[in-house]
Amino acid sequence: MRRPNPFEYRQYLSIILLFFTAMAQAGDTDTDKSDLERGRYLVMATGCNDCHTAGYGVLEGQVPQDQWLKGDVQGWWGPWGTTYGSNLRLFVVGLSEDQWVSAAKTMKRRPPMPWFNLNQMNEDDLRVMYRFIRSLGDPGEPAPAYLPPDQEPPPPYARFVMPPPEPGSE
Ligand code: HEC
Repeated sequence: MRRPNPFEYRQYLSIILLFFTAMAQAGDTDTDKSDLERGRYLVMATGCNDCHTAGYGVLEGQVPQDQWLKGDVQGWWGPWGTTYGSNLRLFVVGLSEDQWVSAAKTMKRRPPMPWFNLNQMNEDDLRVMYRFIRSLGDPGEPAPAYLPPDQEPPPPYARFVMPPPEPGSE
């Protein structure tokens, strides 16, 4: 049997390398896709759409994904003023993935934003949520601006009526 010459070795080697490169690329694509799926799942299951996607609650979640997280014009009026579920697509456009992670872990906002829950989320979960939100496309317009407590918001809004103060507590 004749020994393969070095040229043939190199050919084998490059075929093997091509094979591994192809495998690695296929792997990357799978990871990206599953990251987005996990990000989508987390956004949905942790309830971000409930307040950050217009109509999501009344339509029982039947809002197409191309409308998700663009903010809501429905106000939340309470002793803190009137707040609006912000446009999260716009929020992440201004942030790198690392900046999003640190914002999500430290932010405080007015009610009814459950920032105390967001602060507790794992870094890995926050990263895939960021990638999913970035993948949603056209960010659209900002949600209406915050209004102070003494200003009645235009409808639609939900009002939080607090109990009267306890006698003697004033
Ligand atoms: C019960 C309603 C509600 C839910 C659920 C909710 N948010 Fe919010 N969120 C708000 C409101 C209202 C604001 C605006 C608060 C303010 O004006 O201070 C806000 C603000 C934010 C902000 C700050 C945006 C900015 O421009 O400063 C981020 C980021 C955010 N929410 C992310 C999330 C994520 C991620 C989830 C899901 C894990 C979530 N929110 C779930 C109501 C909600």
